[in-house]
Amino acid sequence: MDKDAVKLAPSILAADFARLGEQVKEAEKAGADRIHVDVMDGHFVPNISIGPVVIQSLRPATPLPLETHLMISDPDLYLEEFAEAGSDSLLVHWEGNNNLHRTVQRIKALGKRAGIVINPATPASVLEEILQDVDQVLVMTVNPGFGGQHFISTTLPKIRRVRQMIDEIKPGCDLEVDGGIDAKTAPLTMEAGANVLVAGSAIFSAKEGIAAAMQRLRAAVGKVKSGTG
Ligand code: DX5
Ligand code: ZN
Repeated sequence: MDKDAVKLAPSILAADFARLGEQVKEAEKAGADRIHVDVMDGHFVPNISIGPVVIQSLRPATPLPLETHLMISDPDLYLEEFAEAGSDSLLVHWEGNNNLHRTVQRIKALGKRAGIVINPATPASVLEEILQDVDQVLVMTVNPGFGGQHFISTTLPKIRRVRQMIDEIKPGCDLEVDGGIDAKTAPLTMEAGANVLVAGSAIFSAKEGIAAAMQRLRAAVGKVKSGTG
């Protein structure tokens, strides 16, 4: 996998919400491939973030795909609302969903890209029967709920396993990582087979500014000779 094949998905959770459109534009100009939007309900995770109205406001602000990471209980209740607000992909957790196949089919029926998210304690093997139906897998590299946490390095072997499964079962499926991704950890995840990197604080909280921070991330993954992908 060459460095140009790696996509960057800035997570707006770490952005300045008073200047959200402006900051997203800056990330777009600096070469962001998609914008990652974290939705939290204070129930599925112990934090509350944003809902469909923010997606709706962002929609005309950028042509980039808006991927929506749903950290909410019973995401089925809100799929249509997020789709209508302008989400391009809907990422739902494996955890707590007894009808994941149905959820995925509903996302596809809405004409959106479907992704499955697994938490650090969830094994790669749970993906086996659903992988063929999805466009994307997101491996959490921190416990979901907060930005600015430390990367959990024991997730690296799992990223490798998911990469193998994708290559066998659904080549072309994106393998994304989320949580604690910075210039140090990004190359590790890429080497393990990730091709989409979510980064919040490493981009929006960087002292050097959004564009320079994104350049630093790109340079860091550029040093990786070749992934296992
Ligand atoms: C955490 C969210 C992440 C978060 C990542 O639950 O899913 O997308 O914004 O933030 P950083 O990059 O700061 O770890
Ligand atoms: Zn996220």
